[in-house]
Amino acid sequence: MRNIILIGMPGSGKTTVGRQVAKTLDYAYFDTDTMVEQAAGISIPAIFEEFGESGFRDMESAAANKVAEAVRAVVSCGGGMVLRDENMTKLRRNGIIVFLDRPLSAIAQTDLSNRPLVQNQLEQLEKLYTERIELYKKYATYIIDNDGSVDEVATELVKRYREEEAHEHSDTQWT
Ligand code: S3P
Repeated sequence: MRNIILIGMPGSGKTTVGRQVAKTLDYAYFDTDTMVEQAAGISIPAIFEEFGESGFRDMESAAANKVAEAVRAVVSCGGGMVLRDENMTKLRRNGIIVFLDRPLSAIAQTDLSNRPLVQNQLEQLEKLYTERIELYKKYATYIIDNDGSVDEVATELVKRYREEEAHEHSDTQWT
């Protein structure tokens, strides 16, 4: 069974849903933002301040390399993981990519104060969404709309995951 790699906008629910999915499947759970913070020993806003966005992106790629080696894992990626194709290539080797799509109006109501690139402003969110949406879609094995309760969304995600894995398995039997 492949890993589950969650991508999507900041505030789309990757962490909350990811934890629930990991619990349901009894998989390990990783969050690349947390991995970066632990490796750097400082918070993400402090990393942006000290090393700039490109410094942060390098650290994020290092986290992707590391977590690409995991097995039976759910991985919540920082919203910008898709900006580097090499990150996604590595994560996809033993993972399926799930784009968690949540209405921007709902994202705008969550607390995004620790995200340097979006500060709860609908305008910034819309700009980021427009810049990113094609990338999220391009890399997604499938898309899950985060428009229900955490339980409902996690249940739907796990159902699709099992279907994908069953399909993958039956494909490989005949090729
Ligand atoms: C970012 C999203 C954040 C974090 C950083 C940059 C982005 O993660 O990695 O602030 O570029 O979209 P979340 O998506 O978990 O908020």
